[in-house]
Amino acid sequence: MQWKARDSVAVVTGASSGIGKCLTQLLADNGCHVIAIARRAEKINHWSASDGSANFGAVTPLAGDITDENVRNRVRSVIDANHSGKLDLLVNNAGVGGIGKFAEATTDRLRKIMEVNFFAPAELTRNLLPCLMLGKSPVICNIGSVLGHRAVPDKSEYCASKFAMHGWSDALRAELFSTGIQVTLVSPSTTRSEFFDSLIDTAPNQSSRSLGHWSAERVADSAYSAIRKRRSEVILSLGGKALVYGDRVAPPLLNAILAQRSPKTTDASD
Ligand SMILES: NC(=O)c1ccc[n+]([C@@H]2O[C@H](COP(=O)([O-])OP(=O)(O)OC[C@H]3O[C@@H](n4cnc5c(N)ncnc54)[C@H](OP(=O)(O)O)[C@@H]3O)[C@@H](O)[C@H]2O)c1
Repeated sequence: MQWKARDSVAVVTGASSGIGKCLTQLLADNGCHVIAIARRAEKINHWSASDGSANFGAVTPLAGDITDENVRNRVRSVIDANHSGKLDLLVNNAGVGGIGKFAEATTDRLRKIMEVNFFAPAELTRNLLPCLMLGKSPVICNIGSVLGHRAVPDKSEYCASKFAMHGWSDALRAELFSTGIQVTLVSPSTTRSEFFDSLIDTAPNQSSRSLGHWSAERVADSAYSAIRKRRSEVILSLGGKALVYGDRVAPPLLNAILAQRSPKTTDASD
């Protein structure tokens, strides 16, 4: 059975920019009521919650930090109060990154990235599972990364957080099978968004390498399609597929190539 946006209720984290913003709009345009979460209220309030009632096809902005337990509890309260405790889709999209060698980074970078990219979505999901159990063909869509399938140098904390999300998604999918809740892992590769403007503890000379990039709209379209088809996993872009499937076929080759490409110093200006 397909997942249908019309008259459904969704939660999207990281809705103020990039993929989350595009996906929120796409869901709302297709008749879904979206509870849109991000820290920057001014970037989500334009959707204007109206009265915050169960007004399908609308967006209810909820400003807050998903690493804050009180914020996660507020999300649950909104669903209980306005949607009879029922949720059809949870999109764990909010995420942050950082670039640079692990040995030269602060403890803070590891902590912050793991908090936002893994602990917060995992705990938000735990909080909302009872609501998803009451939903129609419910889906948990986790926005991972191709770097959650094959790690690369200079993004160790980010890769670790996305590997954690990948492993947790696989385990949860099997655990929830009998409940009818699908877990869809969407793994984009480089995407044009605000992501590289908000890197944590990253020197200005650090840049990201990629094999091409997609627009946030295109990634959101693919995620929406994966949600509707209730897919288990999708890996996006040709470059992303080459990295992931190349690693599955010949991991030593990928290890050798990536070790060659990793500079000895922090000068990654290419
Ligand atoms: N861009 C890429 O190349 C790329 C590639 C693969 C995967 N991804 C993944 O795609 C997802 C979306 O990224 P994007 O490219 O769309 O980047 P983006 O434009 O920077 O969007 C990130 C979103 O997360 C929100 N966010 C960050 N920390 C938060 C927190 N503590 N609480 C609540 N919201 C928070 C941000 O909003 P506020 O700042 O307003 O809170 C923003 O809306 C991320 O999980 C990322 O890891 C991105």
